[in-house]
Amino acid sequence: MKQRMRKMWYRRRVTGVGAVIGLVACFFLMNWWMLSRIPDSGLRLKYKFVRGNSSKILVPEEKGKLVEGKRPQKTIYERLLALAAHALAEGQKKPEPKELWEEPFVPDSSWRPCSDQRNWEPNEGNSGYILVSANGGINQQRVAVCNAVAVARLLNATLVVPKFLYSSVWRDVSDIYQEEHFINYLKPDVRIVKQLPKELQSLDLEAIGSVVTDADIMKEAKPCFYLKNILTILHLNRVVHFVGFGNRLASDPIPFELQRLRCRCNFHALQFVPKIQETGALLLQRMRQNATNSRPLDHYLVGPFAKSKMKRKRGRAVKASRYLALHLRFEIDMAAHSLCDFGGGEEERKELEAYREIHFPALTHLKKTTKLPSPEVLRSEGLCPLMPQETVLMLAALGFNRRTRIFLAGANIYGGQSRLAALTNLYSNVFTKENLLSSSEIEPFRNFSSQLAALDFIGCTAADAFAMTDSGSQLSSLVSGYRIYYGGGKMPTIRPNKRRLAGIFLKNNTIEWKVFEGRVRKAVRQTKRVFSRPVGRIVYRFPRCTECMCFTE
Ligand SMILES: *[C@@H]1O[C@H](CO)[C@@H](O)[C@H](O)[C@H]1NC(C)=O
Ligand SMILES: *[C@@H]1O[C@H](CO)[C@@H](O)[C@H](O)[C@H]1NC(C)=O
Ligand SMILES: *[C@@H]1O[C@H](CO)[C@@H](O)[C@H](O)[C@H]1NC(C)=O
Ligand SMILES: *[C@@H]1O[C@H](CO)[C@@H](O)[C@H](O)[C@H]1NC(C)=O
Repeated sequence: MKQRMRKMWYRRRVTGVGAVIGLVACFFLMNWWMLSRIPDSGLRLKYKFVRGNSSKILVPEEKGKLVEGKRPQKTIYERLLALAAHALAEGQKKPEPKELWEEPFVPDSSWRPCSDQRNWEPNEGNSGYILVSANGGINQQRVAVCNAVAVARLLNATLVVPKFLYSSVWRDVSDIYQEEHFINYLKPDVRIVKQLPKELQSLDLEAIGSVVTDADIMKEAKPCFYLKNILTILHLNRVVHFVGFGNRLASDPIPFELQRLRCRCNFHALQFVPKIQETGALLLQRMRQNATNSRPLDHYLVGPFAKSKMKRKRGRAVKASRYLALHLRFEIDMAAHSLCDFGGGEEERKELEAYREIHFPALTHLKKTTKLPSPEVLRSEGLCPLMPQETVLMLAALGFNRRTRIFLAGANIYGGQSRLAALTNLYSNVFTKENLLSSSEIEPFRNFSSQLAALDFIGCTAADAFAMTDSGSQLSSLVSGYRIYYGGGKMPTIRPNKRRLAGIFLKNNTIEWKVFEGRVRKAVRQTKRVFSRPVGRIVYRFPRCTECMCFTE
């Protein structure tokens, strides 16, 4: 049976080659179009996925107009950092720019969350059972869970509570999210059970052809794919097991109510377990220096702990303490994958090459056999992750004063303390979850990277401003979606257009601070605006669309 299914798909795939070529061309045009519409295109557009014999190879996309860039000189950054230090020292007395902590364009506030509204009947879920074993980090898994919920509803199937892969151990959703809430909240949409029924548990799913891996489903598959192929398996075997399930459901076209269900799942049905909520609330309290004003959004992140903390402090009003969250995501995998040069000389180049050979063999192979854009070109095109030096220069140029409280998510900065020093030299109030929490408070989480990542998620999402310097990561993308959904237009996300920043950094190495500041502010202001969801973009990142939010005059 399995053989037959495989063959069936295979044949479709082969006869579809012509169509695929056409699609790729379309995709290209689409990318170009989106690039011109959304200034910050991010990693997502940086690579297109090309199907090799079996594995996926990442091919940096050729751009229409490649500008031969100049090598980033260390001295440019050093010079600018010195200017920034001077400007920040001077700036102590000056007020911060007015729009620094705000989202521009006020009408945005009239979008409000409404994906909790349903307009359909409950579903029996009697066409079969869907199992999901999601891999990737906690944020990829979150996307996989909500996509699985939508697929289950689409196929009238029953969903078995998804499993997560953590460092080669399968664990339950209940390590991170409140399982009962998940099941009950979505009861009117999909039937969710904790386990497969007894009679199906003993089946060898692999042998009967019910295991469907990411190699069997194209990325962003359309609903018709599931209706054609997966429903057939469900009818034959009563059960399908998705393994991996990374980004396997398209953003468009999706029926309205199904799209709304994805939003409902992401923004309403997944709540962190009390243990994470409690510690998350502690983290927020410390970032805000015991300030009494909680954000409306806190409730969705830390549940009852948002309130109880506040109650205890009643009567002792503490002045609001704002903070900025920053996710640098300048980690070795990102650095190696980007093929960029970060000014660390021969040693760094070798180190990144060695990392690529082990972790991205397809990329190494491609690099040897194809002429890829040079690191200089990649940089001038804004395709390199921002280095901590560049990020801190951007923050200083925007006008964040040196006392600004900064929450730094993740912390494995490539190049370690020496690269981070640029940040801590200019800003003295930089915190991470590790230094906000005592060792006994963080101990219960230490062995669980996903739970630690959940704390970062809370720290970033609740921040008064969030700087998303890595438009590619799933954390930043979910965090900014959450801020749009619950933020009422008052929780700005700073998304620099890296291409423009690269232009500012590289063009002029005699630039004066005032000029630099003006250009950076202008570049960032343009991307701070929150757009409605562009076609083809994911609702978890761009919830401002009629499926997820309602517009009131
Ligand atoms: C699911 O159920 C609905 C209502 O009972 C029905 O209209 C629809 O065709 C079913 N879809 C599938 C894929 O079975
Ligand atoms: C916040 O409250 C805790 C406990 O009540 C106290 O130890 C700490 O000093 C307070 N911090 C600030 C900045 O007020
Ligand atoms: C974490 O792992 C270490 C070593 O494997 C173990 O000794 C410790 O008890 C674990 N801590 C928790 C909270 O599970
Ligand atoms: C560099 O910037 C300065 C002002 O900061 C300007 O006078 C000069 O003309 C610029 N040079 C180039 C090559 O753009």
